[in-house]
Amino acid sequence: MTTQQQPRVQWLGRWGFVLAATGSAVGLGNIWKFPYMTGEHGGGAFVLVYLVCILAVGVPVMMTEIGLGRRGRGSPIDAVRRVVTESGRSPLWSLLGWMAMLAGFMILSFYVVVAGWSFSYLWKMLTGGLSGSGVEDMAAIFVANNENPLNLGFWSTLVTLVTMVIVGKGVQAGIEKSVSWMMPGMVIMLLILIGYGVFSGGFGEAWQFLFSFNTGSLSSEGMLAALGHAFFTLSLASGAILTYGSYLPAGASIARTTFSVAVADTLVALMAGLAIFPVIFANGMSPEGGPGLLFMSLPLAFQAMPLGTLFGVLFFVMLSMAALTSSISMVEATVSWLVDNKGITRRAAAWGTGIVLWLVSTLAMLSFNVGADWTLAGKHFFDWLDYLTSRWMMPLGGLGMVLLAGFVLKSETFREELGLAPHWHALWLFMVRYVSPLGILVIFVDALGIARLQFGLHWPWLLAVLVLITLIGEVASPRLRRTLAG
Ligand code: PHE
Repeated sequence: MTTQQQPRVQWLGRWGFVLAATGSAVGLGNIWKFPYMTGEHGGGAFVLVYLVCILAVGVPVMMTEIGLGRRGRGSPIDAVRRVVTESGRSPLWSLLGWMAMLAGFMILSFYVVVAGWSFSYLWKMLTGGLSGSGVEDMAAIFVANNENPLNLGFWSTLVTLVTMVIVGKGVQAGIEKSVSWMMPGMVIMLLILIGYGVFSGGFGEAWQFLFSFNTGSLSSEGMLAALGHAFFTLSLASGAILTYGSYLPAGASIARTTFSVAVADTLVALMAGLAIFPVIFANGMSPEGGPGLLFMSLPLAFQAMPLGTLFGVLFFVMLSMAALTSSISMVEATVSWLVDNKGITRRAAAWGTGIVLWLVSTLAMLSFNVGADWTLAGKHFFDWLDYLTSRWMMPLGGLGMVLLAGFVLKSETFREELGLAPHWHALWLFMVRYVSPLGILVIFVDALGIARLQFGLHWPWLLAVLVLITLIGEVASPRLRRTLAG
């Protein structure tokens, strides 16, 4: 148990949690990462698997995480420990909290570099550094921006500083306010860009690319990427949502808030795709442009459209804000853990975390310049941070959490936290016991090459296996029958 005695702070407004969780979910993952990953993994098939993962895995995991946070009222480590103790289960489950906290920290270490790109492009927009550049120049500008460690380090350090100042101020003052105007602004900017795309000539091709669901073209690598991205984009298994959930007032509906966040997040990602790909296709660029895709494509659109500089500035302001409302959520777990367990102030915790973060993120930043040769198995430190968290830590953490909620905890725990009508509760339970874990396992098994699954052809088999495992699980588990009965 922790030393925390006072009741935990809670979100101010009725919308406080939804705003903050949406702020955490919507970020560079939607606008920077989703488009370039879709481009790298061939378009529509990736989008389809991503959407399925959001629904079948993301939503159940998010409900579970918010429930764990609110029940345990603490950082991921403390909350999970309290919840398992309450059910008389092993405190070792709190390792899940440790992994989540570590994942949040690792993500932030590369996220600040990307947010730094956004800040520096805002600066370029303001100072006219991009005007008159063509397709090739844009690529060169992106490379040049990365090549100088002092330049790149300046921007990522700035992001680190701003993040820590906001987190140091606390949950309500810092986090809630900034999100309430940023989200609508982002949506308006994306609509303007989509509107431009409709007239730019590349829209039809972009639509086709994103929504022609040809599953045959997706590799197992692509599926694992889609699963990992579903976790990343919803801020799952990384401490953020669980810790935000720990500030959720008792009466709020977890299911409803989860749906609002998931829908908003998915819409923003799809809108970002529809904003970026028309520009790519209209300018004859390759969708496989990698992490620079956003920065090499949208500035071209801003140059071509009326009032482009104004819109460009606004866009990068919004993108930077979206990045900040996510970055603050990544350290919230660590900071709240330090405050609750080490008896230090929030501000001290934020600065302490910030210093360590700065060191690790500087290493990540160097991947783009002086450390370009420091690779392991072909990946830079920056890539490793992304790869380990998205592909492994988050899916595994999510798996652990659904299994904990589905099989280990007393059934009252989630019945009380979720407060759902019996048939909805049964659906949630079915999802966390069978659909989500199997979804995660199948994709892992496939990606590890243990067994090759041809999804297009064999999905009836998968369904059959799911039904079989459910039956075995239910027969072996009298608890569910009791749950459903009572
Ligand atoms: N969901 C955020 C985004 O899409 C990233 C994030 C990951 C935030 C993990 C918090 C925790 O940009």
